Amino acid sequence: MASNRGVVYVGPGKVEVQSIDFPKLANPFGKKIEHGVILRVVSTNICGSDQHMVRGRTTAPEGLVLGHEITGEVIEVGRDVETLHVGDIVSVPFNVACGRCRTCKEQHTGVCLNVNPSRAGGAYGYVDMGGWIGGQAEYVMVPYADFNLLRFPDKDQAFAKIRDLTCLSDILPTGYHGAVTAGVGPGSTVYVAGAGPVGLAAAASARLLGAAVVIVGDLNPKRLEHARSVGFHTVDLSLDATLGEQIEQILGTPEVDSAIDAVGFEARGHGHSGSQVEAPATVLNSLMEVTRAAGKIGIPGLYVTEDPGAADAAAKHGSLSIRFGLGWAKSHSFHTGQTPVMKYNRALMQAILWDRINIADVVGVQVISLDDAPKGYEAFDAGAPRKFVLDPHGLLKTAA
Ligand SMILES: NC(=O)c1ccc[n+]([C@@H]2O[C@H](COP(=O)([O-])OP(=O)(O)OC[C@H]3O[C@@H](n4cnc5c(N)ncnc54)[C@H](O)[C@@H]3O)[C@@H](O)[C@H]2O)c1
Ligand SMILES: [Zn+2]
Ligand SMILES: [Zn+2]
Repeated sequence: MASNRGVVYVGPGKVEVQSIDFPKLANPFGKKIEHGVILRVVSTNICGSDQHMVRGRTTAPEGLVLGHEITGEVIEVGRDVETLHVGDIVSVPFNVACGRCRTCKEQHTGVCLNVNPSRAGGAYGYVDMGGWIGGQAEYVMVPYADFNLLRFPDKDQAFAKIRDLTCLSDILPTGYHGAVTAGVGPGSTVYVAGAGPVGLAAAASARLLGAAVVIVGDLNPKRLEHARSVGFHTVDLSLDATLGEQIEQILGTPEVDSAIDAVGFEARGHGHSGSQVEAPATVLNSLMEVTRAAGKIGIPGLYVTEDPGAADAAAKHGSLSIRFGLGWAKSHSFHTGQTPVMKYNRALMQAILWDRINIADVVGVQVISLDDAPKGYEAFDAGAPRKFVLDPHGLLKTAA
């Protein structure tokens, strides 16, 4: 049997590249499935969502094969697959979705009801998401392949844009979903919390949707500098000036039309001393302050139900000190949850193929080998202004 290698979570702060099983057309319980395909992984990205697990901030078990951001080449198709063929180059939405349940039919593929016995929603290589094996590996299996996969129209064209197309499995649709659910449209003023890859993808999406001005906030000077270099205004939350004051310096008013949380529950506090400590409700509370009355807040940033590393007992179970009354008083709308990638990935693929968005440069894509994954995790955790993309078969090196 063919061999396989993948990135494995081996304990807090540690990942290793190990030999793992070659994928089978079977679900996580071992039942044979004929609707799946096996992919040779073309590219697979490290995500901020992986970092929550690797930092020991979730209940992820040791031995978990990581990786939910996958682009691949079909090398084997199950008997019931009708529309995909060996050789197709495909983007894999990070959501595992059945295409048959009520929520899938309503396009909410982030909360499919049939792929995870313990809660709504499945994903590859992720804690509590159904046990589907991760794709930071040489090979991976994708179930319900006809429904889940987005086939690129042309192989050569796909390889020419692969650094951008690799962002379709998660961060670009996620940033776009954040912007759409924050109500961004032509002429909007937008604040994005977080200058990581998701925040930058949200900022680029806001620009694509016609925003007049996009302001990105972080506390990491290198990430802020990178955000400015790709054309966004920035605010530095480690300064003592409040977020509203800093927005006012740019816009002449302390409020924006739309706000996006691209940080999540590991948020740091604001101000010189606040930024030294974690304060998980900071982003949500500050977004309510700076979003106009009747404005919308998109929340792709991840919040958990269990956080063993939380500072207080309530946060250990995902309960945060949210100033909900403020949002209520301003008639805010909030939108949370896993991104339903499939709702957006085809249109965003066209935007990439027709040069409407240069997402790889905006998020700072850096291609590294599978063996260098542990170094990529370390550099990303240290706040490098990069999106690390693993190249398990050296195909991107050849394409570039
Ligand atoms: N909803 C989804 O489907 C989905 C998909 C992908 C990622 N995510 C989540 O999106 C979030 C961002 O992902 P990423 O890959 O960009 O992660 P990342 O860790 O690289 O970026 C987060 C950034 O937030 C900054 N930050 C911390 N506190 C802040 C504050 N108070 N204000 C502003 N910035 C602050 C950090 O310095 C960091 O640069 C993560 O929580 C991730 O899990 C969600
Ligand atoms: Zn991701
Ligand atoms: Zn479903």
